[in-house]
Amino acid sequence: MSALNRTPEGIPRHIAIIMDGNGRWAKQRGMPRIAGHRQGYKTVRRIVQQSLDLGVEALTLYTFSVENWKRPSEETGAIMRLIGMAARRELANLHRNGVRIIISGRLNTLSQEIRRALDQAMTVTRENQRLVLNLAINYGGRAEIVDAARRIAALVREGKLDPQEIDEETFSGYLYTPELPDPDLLIRTSGELRVSNFLLWQIAYTEIWVTPVLWPDFRESHLLEAVEDYARRQRKFGDIPQESKASV
Ligand code: FPP
Repeated sequence: MSALNRTPEGIPRHIAIIMDGNGRWAKQRGMPRIAGHRQGYKTVRRIVQQSLDLGVEALTLYTFSVENWKRPSEETGAIMRLIGMAARRELANLHRNGVRIIISGRLNTLSQEIRRALDQAMTVTRENQRLVLNLAINYGGRAEIVDAARRIAALVREGKLDPQEIDEETFSGYLYTPELPDPDLLIRTSGELRVSNFLLWQIAYTEIWVTPVLWPDFRESHLLEAVEDYARRQRKFGDIPQESKASV
């Protein structure tokens, strides 16, 4: 995947989105929160299509966090049903468009029905190469790091891995999606200035763009704005610009 490197100049190869504000969108209209999630799903469809059009390689969507289970069971149950329904309903269209679906998160604790729908989506689309759609479901950034540490510790215990060999690259290889490049751009809607336990390892040098727009109101024009802003930034990865080196 990262070897392909075929994203057009200036376009982020990997965009990650914290889709926030569904509840507020619904509340502003006197509707139940799940109406906001349903509207948010419509935004997901638009943004996946636009990512295909732009030539983005990977799109990661924060769909359900490990902390979201604290919400009332009516809401968590409704979100899970929406995810299962979307996975079944969108599969043929995504497959036709060359989208590969992968999931980041602790899937083993989800209901069998959801797991089956997600497993099928991953299996059917596994050879597709146009866009990787990574859905973070029952996902936590710390949980992901803990899960990687457990896998590494088990290999060390079995004598299959030497602790001295573990470096950042080795560690990345045990995260949920070792095949994806780190996100270039992280978008958060609804104005909150937090990363909320999302991709903690992977966003070390990611550019962040926050908009006050609520996720159900997020449109193609907003994504374009984010991408244009990203294209104007100078990414330094801890270095200094080349032209400044003469004046050190
Ligand atoms: C955050 O808004 C949104 C979620 C926790 C759920 C995201 C789910 C979807 C967009 C729908 C399904 C998506 C797919 C991919 C099928 P919030 O509820 O925290 O909003 P608030 O901060 O205004 O309360």
